[in-house]
Amino acid sequence: MDRIKMILDCDTGHDDAIALLLAAAHPKIDLLGITVVAGNQVLDRTLENTLNVCQHMEIDVPVYAGCGCPLVRDQVAAEDIHGKSGLDGPVFPERVREAEKEHAVHYLIRTLLASDGDITLVPTAPLTNIAMAMRLEPAIVPKIRQISLMGGAVGLGNITPAAEFNIFADPEAAHIVFTSGVPIVMMGLDLTNQVLADMEVIERMEAIGNRAGKLFGDIMRFTFNTQKLNGLSAGPVHDVTAVAYLVAPELFTTRSMHVEIDLTHGPCYGRTVCDANCRTGRKANVMAGSGVDLSGFWNLVEETLRRYR
Ligand code: RIB
Ligand code: CA
Repeated sequence: MDRIKMILDCDTGHDDAIALLLAAAHPKIDLLGITVVAGNQVLDRTLENTLNVCQHMEIDVPVYAGCGCPLVRDQVAAEDIHGKSGLDGPVFPERVREAEKEHAVHYLIRTLLASDGDITLVPTAPLTNIAMAMRLEPAIVPKIRQISLMGGAVGLGNITPAAEFNIFADPEAAHIVFTSGVPIVMMGLDLTNQVLADMEVIERMEAIGNRAGKLFGDIMRFTFNTQKLNGLSAGPVHDVTAVAYLVAPELFTTRSMHVEIDLTHGPCYGRTVCDANCRTGRKANVMAGSGVDLSGFWNLVEETLRRYR
């Protein structure tokens, strides 16, 4: 079976951590590297969180620190959802695991240029690292097989009424990525707000009885409460969908559409403007997730978490 060569770009964060557990253990995935960006929290914290999860779960994949601030706009974070550490809840042993010395953007460029054009990027964070790499070395664009990202929304936002956090945190970076011509799968809030880790799910994963199940519980019990800010009954595992789609696309329904990023500095700044009904006549640049087989999704998550010792 040809495994999917993947680079995960994350701002760990609660749901990023679960996405990392899935990407590192699923048999269909060859996780080449993990790049980290500022988002849910400042870069120092998202990097610390990523390294802690990798150390604790014995994930032997290189981690690269990337961009610490957005391309143009002022920095925003999501402390209300993810806490001061960016991953409040779980407690990790003293960290000895270190990041690689190479900058994430240079790692992305070097790896993509050396590839056969068979690497999939999975950004679950603001798109700053990906956009910077595209601008620094445009020759990587045709070398990216696909981008499966968590971000955006056909409907309402979560950080503003109009915008989803990952896009809102760096709209200009998102514009670069969405206009690059690389095939994009967009797991937006319309899809990801369906995958809620309620108490039944949390207890199901904890019952696995291994370190991964315990970590799932410690992580998702924290956002079980903070996500009520978005009017949700439990914490969505937003980022996991961008990984799950790649290994089990049959679990998802998608709609192709043209998507552009609103860069005007008004109430819709950072909105993914989704031409779902093709009113503009512009060629679709995105496959947007619209539905998911929840039973199959949680079975996939459980089966993958069981693969940890
Ligand atoms: O809007 C949800 C996204 O913002 C997720 O990626 C979450 O981790 C936060 O980064
Ligand atoms: Ca994230």
